[in-house]
This record gives sequence, structure tokens and C-alpha cells, in this order.
Amino acid sequence: MQKKITIIGAGNVGATAAHWALARRLGDIVLLDVMEGIPQGKALDLWQAGPLDGFAGTVTGSNDYADTAGSDVVIITAGLARKPGMSRDDLLARNVAIVRSCAEEAVRHSPDCVMIVVTNPIDAMVHTAFKVSGLPKNRVIGMAGVLDSARYRTFLADALGVAPADVFALVMGIHGDKMLPLVRLANVAGVPITDLLDRETIDGIVRRTQMGGIEIVNHLKTGSAFYTPGLAAIEMAEAILTDSRRVMPCAAYLDGEFGISGYFLGVPVVLGSNGVERILEFELTEEERAALDESVAAVSRQMEATGL
Ligand code: LAC
Repeated sequence: MQKKITIIGAGNVGATAAHWALARRLGDIVLLDVMEGIPQGKALDLWQAGPLDGFAGTVTGSNDYADTAGSDVVIITAGLARKPGMSRDDLLARNVAIVRSCAEEAVRHSPDCVMIVVTNPIDAMVHTAFKVSGLPKNRVIGMAGVLDSARYRTFLADALGVAPADVFALVMGIHGDKMLPLVRLANVAGVPITDLLDRETIDGIVRRTQMGGIEIVNHLKTGSAFYTPGLAAIEMAEAILTDSRRVMPCAAYLDGEFGISGYFLGVPVVLGSNGVERILEFELTEEERAALDESVAAVSRQMEATGL
């Protein structure tokens, strides 16, 4: 049977995710938004790409959650995006209310879905979706590490003059300034980057990765990034829908892993049809542990601010 994927929020991230989902042949796509006409218009436009692209599924635009029934994956992108001068935390209160209603409605119609949360601040929003949906911990996942790691890998590949796909690098922790791009484990087809780049270059790349979102907000002025965030969510959805067991950094609920309990935090995750199949735990250095602890402190402040 054809898989079904619902994308909530037909703004830049949602519509771009729908575009990538179509290009990757993930299944039937439902694009939902509270704004009347926007999801319908964008979905119709995308659907008509079928004869040119070879996509044979359906793309439905809707304002009605009944149309999302039986979705295998639900991606929540709805919410306000950042403008220059705003931190992701500034969005928190308004986006909690939005994500809360999206998650409640979506799970009512798709009780067996895996939910991917993209709305910022992601770590607080994935906590919100988990609390209100009642879904098990493995079925609610935040998209952040895939995006942050893609940025890290892009900058590393550029500095090294190698194909980006051959750079393996992991960003853990919160989706914010305290994120942790791991240097020790970053490599090019197995060769450590610390043997290929000097410390100053690596430090610059780490900093640029941590500020990767705001760099784009400052250019755009009217919103935040959407091409790679949209694809990052679809990369996760594809691994879940195809049960591929691909390993990606995702905001997953920690239940003792890395010595942390009760928080969503970016960690390497095995993705399959049950969502988070496994968290790949490993030994951190003292410095990495201290950096991760800073992420935990920041996430805990965000979680409390949701009031859930
Ligand atoms: C970014 C936003 C989506 O990092 O948080 O671009």
C-alpha cells in the first residue's frame, strides 16, 4: 500500500518539505494549514509536476485534519519563524499553542503515526508534541541535528575541497547556540579532520555551524531557512517510511542514555518504521560532556517555559 505523509504548515518549510517528499517518491502527500487556499493552491501546483517529474502519487491541500487520517508520518512545521534580532526562544510561547493543537489533532486521526517536529524552538516543541499527543517516546522526534550536521558537513567539505557526501560529522545537543558539533569524531571517508585542518579553521567552522540559522535569517530578514530544513525532515521521514535503519542525529527522548533522563536532546539515532529504533550511545570526553550539560540546561529552561 502507498505510504501517506502529512505535512502540517504550508509555509516555506512545509511546502519545501512537500516538494522534497514528491521528488523522493515517499507516497501520497497531504499539505495542511489553517490558512484557507494556501495548502490547496500549493498542493495543486505540486501535483501538476507529476507528468514532468514522474511522480504518480497524490498531493492534497487541506484545512481539515480528517484528510490526514491514517498517515504513517506527520511532520509539524506550523508556527512563526524568526526575524532578525529574534532568538528561537522568543518564538516559544506562541508556537507552543500552535504545535499543541497540531499534535492533538494529528494524532486523533493518525494514532499510529511517527511525528517529526520541525517548528522552533525545536527542543521545546518536540517536548510539547510528546506531552500532548500521548504517543510513545520513540514515535516523536525533533528535526535539528540533520540540518545542523548538514551545515557542518558543508562547511568542512568546502574547507577541505572534497565531496560533501564524504564528510561524516555529527552535531549533538540543543538546536541553538549551545549545540555541539563534535570535532573529535568528524572525518572524511574515515580520515579525521583534525589531521587535515588546523585548529583555527575548525574553530571557525564550529562557530559558523552554531550560528548557521541566524546567518540565513540575517540575509533573508523576513524569515528563516527552509530548503535544507525541509529536506532534513524528509530525509528522516524517508528512513522511517522505508525502515532503512539509517543513522541520523535527531532530537530523541532520553531515558538514561548519555546519563540523561526526561529530556529531548540531539543524539545519534537509528531510524526505522517505529521511529527511534535505538539511540547510539558512546563515551564522551570531559570537554564534550561539559558542552552537552550546557545543552541540557538550556533545554530544561525551554521545557519549563512550555508549562507542560
Ligand atoms: C535554522 C532554523 C530553522 O536553523 O532554526 O535555520
